[in-house]
Amino acid sequence: MKKMKIAVLAGGNSAERDVSWASGCKISNALADSGYAVALLDVWLGVELNGKTAGELFLARPEYRDYAFQVPRTPPNLEELKSRRSPHCAGYFGPNVLDVCRAADVVFIALHGAAGENGQLQATLGLLEIPFTGSDFAGCVVAMDKHLAKRQMRSAGQRTADWLYYQRCEDIDEETVREKIGFPCAVKPPRGGSSIGISLPQNAGEFREAVQKAVSADAGGSDGDILIEKYIQGREFCVGILDGKALPPIEIIPRYGWFDYESKYQSERTNEVCPAEITDELTAALQAAALAVHKALHLGFYSRVDFKVDSAGTFYCLEANTLPGMTPTSLLPQEAAAAGIPYEQLCDMIAKDAIRRRSEKASN
Ligand SMILES: Nc1ncnc2c1ncn2[C@@H]1O[C@H](COP(=O)(O)OP(=O)(O)O)[C@@H](O)[C@H]1O
Ligand SMILES: [Mg+2]
Repeated sequence: MKKMKIAVLAGGNSAERDVSWASGCKISNALADSGYAVALLDVWLGVELNGKTAGELFLARPEYRDYAFQVPRTPPNLEELKSRRSPHCAGYFGPNVLDVCRAADVVFIALHGAAGENGQLQATLGLLEIPFTGSDFAGCVVAMDKHLAKRQMRSAGQRTADWLYYQRCEDIDEETVREKIGFPCAVKPPRGGSSIGISLPQNAGEFREAVQKAVSADAGGSDGDILIEKYIQGREFCVGILDGKALPPIEIIPRYGWFDYESKYQSERTNEVCPAEITDELTAALQAAALAVHKALHLGFYSRVDFKVDSAGTFYCLEANTLPGMTPTSLLPQEAAAAGIPYEQLCDMIAKDAIRRRSEKASN
């Protein structure tokens, strides 16, 4: 029987490209183990065909060779990345990427951040009628924008920390921030990820620096707009959603400081406990809230919803991720493993959902 062809899109031009490449490598290896023919592509740098057709780039075992990649300690230098791209290349898609996607049965989106996660890629693939994994563009647009997502959570009756949103950082009124939010607070680029550009300032001086950091070009995720959120002191939990069900919560305990970029991707810097050591009541409440947020944001087959819980046991949703980290040691795969779903099966389930939706569309 002919093997199903899956194009795995990773890399990209966002500050989270290294994290994405790590996810893409592991996903590709797992899909090859499950019997698919796989082509892993950097969506932004593209691929040379070297005389082959796009369809010939898909390899199955034994020709397929495993990829290995370790996320460096600091986010990538995007200027240096631009210099590696041909000056003739314009737009988001690198050479031959769309041709390879068209030759695939399904595209597995392993991107994080920017156009890969904010719905633009999903909308493009949808218009081209190329089947892809995960959430549709509308869910991605809202989930990626923390201001829109928080409004949606509130209107669905889900708790999220109080916040202020300013379209331009010049409009920030410090008196209002002090009165309504206070210090410490969380200052964020509204459409960022991996904690890039986020600070937790303790006072007015640090707050001004935090605003500059969040809107600066290399933070990404901001067009000069800014989100300022009440700081929630307490424990942090994530709850994965897979196929309409909540997975066991995982607790994240950073060993140094808070859950910043380095803590997220250098395993010795955080302690992750799954299933989280909390009461059955809190587990059930977090799972119900995660599912409610997932539904309120119209997300697809999988997502990961993040929470802070204060000392009184009150929990607040921080955000929902439509494309959570997907290396075997990432949070969602750890939660799936705790629910008895090994990594290879998790990747296969996500691919199969896209294949199923493709067949449904074809028969309509
Ligand atoms: N309101 C808050 N109170 C306390 N800590 C926060 C708050 N918002 C964010 N953080 C910390 O910053 C991290 C990143 O914030 P998050 O909103 O999830 O952004 P990102 O999309 O970059 O992951 C969180 O995992 C948490 O540790
Ligand atoms: Mg987060």
